[in-house]
Amino acid sequence: MDRIRIVGGQRLNGTIPISGAKNATLPLMIASLLTADTLVLENVPRLADVIQLQRILGNHGVDIMIAGKRPGDEPASGRTLHISAKTIVDTTAPYELVSTMRASFWVIAPLLARMGEAKVSMPGGCAIGTRPVDLLIMALEKLGAEIEIEGGYVIARAPHGLRGGEIKFPKVTVSGTHVALMAAVLARGTTVIDNAAREPEIGDVADCLNKMGANVSGIGTSRLVVEGVTKLNGARHAVLPDRIETGTYAMAVAMTGGDVLLQNTRPELLQSALDVLARTGTTVTPTNEGIRVARNGSALKPVDVTTAPFPGFPTDLQAQLMALMSLADGTSHITETIFENRFMHVQELARLGAHIHLDGETATIEGVKRLKGAPVMATDLRASVSLVIAALAAEGETMVNRVYHLDRGFERLEEKLSRCGATIERISS
Ligand code: UD1
Repeated sequence: MDRIRIVGGQRLNGTIPISGAKNATLPLMIASLLTADTLVLENVPRLADVIQLQRILGNHGVDIMIAGKRPGDEPASGRTLHISAKTIVDTTAPYELVSTMRASFWVIAPLLARMGEAKVSMPGGCAIGTRPVDLLIMALEKLGAEIEIEGGYVIARAPHGLRGGEIKFPKVTVSGTHVALMAAVLARGTTVIDNAAREPEIGDVADCLNKMGANVSGIGTSRLVVEGVTKLNGARHAVLPDRIETGTYAMAVAMTGGDVLLQNTRPELLQSALDVLARTGTTVTPTNEGIRVARNGSALKPVDVTTAPFPGFPTDLQAQLMALMSLADGTSHITETIFENRFMHVQELARLGAHIHLDGETATIEGVKRLKGAPVMATDLRASVSLVIAALAAEGETMVNRVYHLDRGFERLEEKLSRCGATIERISS
């Protein structure tokens, strides 16, 4: 299994190109199941999760062609996928494929909407809490689906097609909103999704669905209204920038010091996280090309932060902020409200010398003067990258073991960081 070796202590200086968002790419690829025409997705990141989803879609009969680079393309620019679900050959998504990635469960919505049936294994993915699918099932039932759960599979049927309905989520759920939206676009009549998640990736998918001929309004608000249509067409859509990758590198620069332009990204995608960084004393400057982040020698100020659905501080940046606050000049508090078990990075950060105390959903982080390199183990996607950024600021060598989690969500991480002066290398075994 690959490992990453980091020798900390270098400042980061230069430019980091930000990739297309993983959390938009996955549902966009899944949305291709809604049409027999070709969906062309640009700015697709090279990630293990994308490859895994290609396999899952392939099992349903989807053809994916990856376009070659064109002259003038930046080496860093993402790939273009031509995805064609002309014929769906199988409406079952088996355990072996779905168990490795939670988002693959979402195929249930387009399969049901287009084919009238779907049988999908209960999902797996990062071990960060129970992550049930009750609200996804509730949403499908509101649109007229009959659901059975049998042998670890969710079996959904709508032999006469789905019909519009009122879906009110009792809590904000990204997965629930994606599933509701993808089912509603082909349902007969009007669907209203209340308390919808407002994450930018939902808006990106809704924009793409509209390009495909859907009629979704209220994009960016917590009330989405969908007028169902009978058929969707192909479209061309560029995936929006990855706000979690953006925030992660921003925190890395805040941690090590230096001056980095995060290219091809937009501040409004992660304003709450940028505001927190500014409170720590880090300079954050939006530019025409992206976001410039700099810190030169000044002490990091501690902050108190609670994770929340968008536009709040994202849970996917919680571990990275905790790494950063472990070097603050004082005590910080971070409260996790989205996932109950998302603190697996705490004991690994402690190996590097961080002082963190957990009490229920709140972590108290007493800043230390310095972190020191050590062998650590990556336990989930965002936790893994928090160890990488802590290691960049730690004295000496850190070996991050089990890095396959990183490959699920961060494109060319070692290359992007080493170009900015970090000493980081992958050791393949
Ligand atoms: C998505 C993101 C993930 C991010 C999370 C929260 C993708 C591929 N993943 O995950 O990176 O951390 O949003 O921003 O986009 N819940 C239920 N019942 C359900 C569904 C969810 O109780 O049926 C709960 C979950 O356990 C969790 C909360 O709702 O406590 C939020 O989950 P959700 O927003 O659905 O997260 P994901 O879509 O899984």
